Amino acid sequence: MLPNLAGLQKLAYRDGMRFAIADPPYIGQAAKHYGDHPDYAGEVDHDELIARLCADYHAWALCCSSPSLQTILALCPEEVRVGAWVKPFASFKPGVNPAYAWEPVIFYGGRKRGRDLPTVRDWVAENITLKKGLSGVKPAAFCFWLFEFLGCEPGDHLHDLFPGSGAVTAAWESWCARKTGAAIQSPLFAEALG
Ligand SMILES: C[S@@+](CC[C@H](N)C(=O)[O-])C[C@H]1O[C@@H](n2cnc3c(N)ncnc32)[C@H](O)[C@@H]1O
Repeated sequence: MLPNLAGLQKLAYRDGMRFAIADPPYIGQAAKHYGDHPDYAGEVDHDELIARLCADYHAWALCCSSPSLQTILALCPEEVRVGAWVKPFASFKPGVNPAYAWEPVIFYGGRKRGRDLPTVRDWVAENITLKKGLSGVKPAAFCFWLFEFLGCEPGDHLHDLFPGSGAVTAAWESWCARKTGAAIQSPLFAEALG
């Protein structure tokens, strides 16, 4: 049973909101891309994952693939929104035409953005990363888009449930530092914002 979003939003966020970013392997691709990775634990159970996201977090973003979208949306609460990460430069596979060059992201909950804030689009255009030593490392600009879309604020608690390279957490630290005016330490941040 999924909890009710309106009920969750009535909670007081005195100590910051709890956000999760879930970037699991694509359905059916876990063994191929991550079979020899230390945190590989077979196929991810998306039913269990989405129930846990709803139970444990005020808001979340779940990365998926266009072929898995129908399956995953059927497991989600009605209130979710779907955003798109479009990849001007993407990896083309021989014999796959049209190419898969975008990735859906499912969003649930988050802070309402006031009129004082710039309007966030429901898509972001950013190239894939290369030569990071892991398949699917997320670019910093993509992560910043997730944080803005969800209405995150410094002081919130962000849990990166499938950390891989650690790029999402590194981007979170950089984004928070930028928002609070603290020194920007991560090269990821400078790379994305110039
Ligand atoms: C798409 S990658 C995450 C990439 C990460 N967001 C980044 O930017 O580097 C998915 C990660 O989940 C791990 N993984 C694979 N199967 C898993 C499982 N059943 N449970 C938890 N983690 C798993 C993979 O080894 C990989 O590190």
